[in-house]
Amino acid sequence: MLTQEIIRKKRDGQTLDAPELKFLMRGLVDGKVSNAQAAAFAMSVYFNGMQIDERVALTVAMRDTGDVLSWDLGGPVVDKHSTGGVGDNVSLMLAPALAACGVYVPMISGRGLGHTGGTLDKFDSISGYQTQPDVDLLKKVTQEVGCAIIGQTGDIAPADKVLYGIRDVTATVESVDLITASILSKKLAAGLDALVLDVKCGNGAFMATQDDARELAESLVNVANGAGCKTSAIMTDMNEPLASAAGNAVEVRNAVDFLTGTHIDNRLWDVTSDLGAELLMLAGVVPNVGQGRDRISAAFTSGAAAERFGAMVTGLGGPADFMENMHKYLPVAPVVREVFATSEGFVQGIDTRGIGMAVIELGGGRRVSSDTIDHSVGFSDLAGVGQLMDKDEPIGVVHALSDADADAAAQTLQNAMKIGDDVLRPKPLIRENIIHDND
Ligand code: URA
Repeated sequence: MLTQEIIRKKRDGQTLDAPELKFLMRGLVDGKVSNAQAAAFAMSVYFNGMQIDERVALTVAMRDTGDVLSWDLGGPVVDKHSTGGVGDNVSLMLAPALAACGVYVPMISGRGLGHTGGTLDKFDSISGYQTQPDVDLLKKVTQEVGCAIIGQTGDIAPADKVLYGIRDVTATVESVDLITASILSKKLAAGLDALVLDVKCGNGAFMATQDDARELAESLVNVANGAGCKTSAIMTDMNEPLASAAGNAVEVRNAVDFLTGTHIDNRLWDVTSDLGAELLMLAGVVPNVGQGRDRISAAFTSGAAAERFGAMVTGLGGPADFMENMHKYLPVAPVVREVFATSEGFVQGIDTRGIGMAVIELGGGRRVSSDTIDHSVGFSDLAGVGQLMDKDEPIGVVHALSDADADAAAQTLQNAMKIGDDVLRPKPLIRENIIHDND
């Protein structure tokens, strides 16, 4: 096979077959396909698109360039993937709740991307917690606790790493075909029986419109099912931060408060229980979503999910008394300050991306991938859309490294929260459920 002939076919709008895509992906890893050829391939896909079968073949070819985990655990192996948002700490509650319901969750997570937070960065705030264990420790904790949230381990989908780097500098990131293969090659390498996708939509998501989010959700669902993993998607609102916190340690505190019942954000409860219910149904644990919600809810109210979270932290090297004494172990910013709106009224809307960017400005996210981050900074106690703000009710609390940083973040937060007189009706948080075409 000749790489240039494969690129020519795609350039001319033809469909590539599985052996051709396998040849290209393998060549990316062993250096037989040059960066220039990879860029030309990416641009041809960007302009000409791919059929669903072609996307499946690309995803599988990419997955198979690296390790593919296999499990023998006596129960289904499941995972959730979110396309990314602000204050999205769902994984921290969902993985232990699912473990408490008898399924296994080896959750391989990523770092923050652009204005969105990353689950891995949140866990790096917990002293001692190993976010990069070897495969043996991942398997041990998954088996013993039921869940392990970690970063990429071993050699997962190396072709994606090469191609993503090339897409990033050749204006070819925004291709639904390539995004689908990139996300799923890594997820499917974890050897899953079922997967649920949380496709975010709104001003804090990568997909701002419902149509764009639906196109990506349908692609992900059809390709994952085509590759043999039972998958569905939920499109959820990202026109305000999902949790009332945005940052790293602040989101871990928010999640532990949720798990222990100290403070529960209703939006988080709804999204977490819907995603969990969907997964329990896909995995064959419950016959319908209603029973799935009941099981997830019981995992929270009984304290079983909190217990699993604590066991996971300990299993991965964190403190044994983390749930009881998290304040001892999570970093605290030197400046913690309440922020008030400049006028009284109801929150009309929130510039969610602006809040995500403010977390980066505070030092809690990266401008370039080599940046180191400060885990203590961010926002907590954020107000939500529709909430009444007055002189006694802060719109949020800023956690900063200096007074100057706190001043700047306070101003950004004031600009991000639009205050007005209208009393708003709540908009639906769960926008659409996307199931496989053949279901
Ligand atoms: N996340 C990924 O892993 N890959 C993409 O292409 C986009 C988002």
